[in-house]
Amino acid sequence: MARLRDKVALITGAGGGIGSETARLFAAEGAAVVVNDIAAEAAQAVVDSIQAAGGRAVAAVADISNAAQVDAMFRLAEETFGGADILVNNAFLAVNDVSLTELEEADWDRTLAVSLKGPFLCTKRALPAMRARGGGSIVTLSSVNALWSVGEPAYTAAKGGLISLMRLVAVEYAGWNVRSNVICPGTIATDICMEHWNRFPAGYAKLLEMYPLGRIGTPREVANCALFLASDEAGFVTGTVQVVDGGLMAGRRLEQK
Ligand SMILES: NC(=O)c1ccc[n+]([C@@H]2O[C@H](COP(=O)([O-])OP(=O)(O)OC[C@H]3O[C@@H](n4cnc5c(N)ncnc54)[C@H](O)[C@@H]3O)[C@@H](O)[C@H]2O)c1
Repeated sequence: MARLRDKVALITGAGGGIGSETARLFAAEGAAVVVNDIAAEAAQAVVDSIQAAGGRAVAAVADISNAAQVDAMFRLAEETFGGADILVNNAFLAVNDVSLTELEEADWDRTLAVSLKGPFLCTKRALPAMRARGGGSIVTLSSVNALWSVGEPAYTAAKGGLISLMRLVAVEYAGWNVRSNVICPGTIATDICMEHWNRFPAGYAKLLEMYPLGRIGTPREVANCALFLASDEAGFVTGTVQVVDGGLMAGRRLEQK
């Protein structure tokens, strides 16, 4: 049976990568999907692919760091599908991967505006609407960068902040029957990610060695986790941080010789 039958899911940054895979999976599992992205063509292409497969979807072009645009996106969800039962905070921006002492204030601000304030604005707008519908599920994409340090100060701070914020949501809005969980993926083979690693084959080989499973993940493997957390199967699961990382956070064997 379709695991998201009769549900409406709003997924931010769903024009590509993990978000688009999640949108297609949720639609295949019966959800009507609001496909948000700041990039209109990308969002519409995902909507077209969902509709071509017989699913229900609408594009919602909005910058999630802008409260008025976030409000308009949720109003579109309400007018089109009656509201959202599921919010996936997936969109992010990471401006300029440099060390903390070199990081410009403007790049910190823009990174935090999209990657931390954006999920705050979406969650703030979603919560009362979920309460009115009898509850909901919020799934937020953080990263293993929040759990150990591998550079990217602004992105890391945003992703760490999301874990704390979404635990707070789990505790404070459990009474509204809203669950809130976080996913921390390791490296995932999105198109953008592979475009980068294809230029650095030696670095890519070293990257794979870091993963106990000997490979990086697929967007589908993250989407599968989001599907479980979004669905009623995870009815008693809230306030958790789920790593999807091929064993990376479990550690690595220390060679004794
Ligand atoms: N890919 C990885 O290796 C990886 C690893 C760990 C965590 N993550 C997390 O997973 C999530 C998805 O990552 P991805 O690699 O699939 O990303 P991606 O870059 O492939 O897609 C992100 C999407 O967000 C959209 N976007 C950017 N700014 C926006 C804004 N202001 N408003 C609305 N949409 C906006 C982009 O247009 C893009 O389509 C992110 O939260 C990321 O931090 C990814």
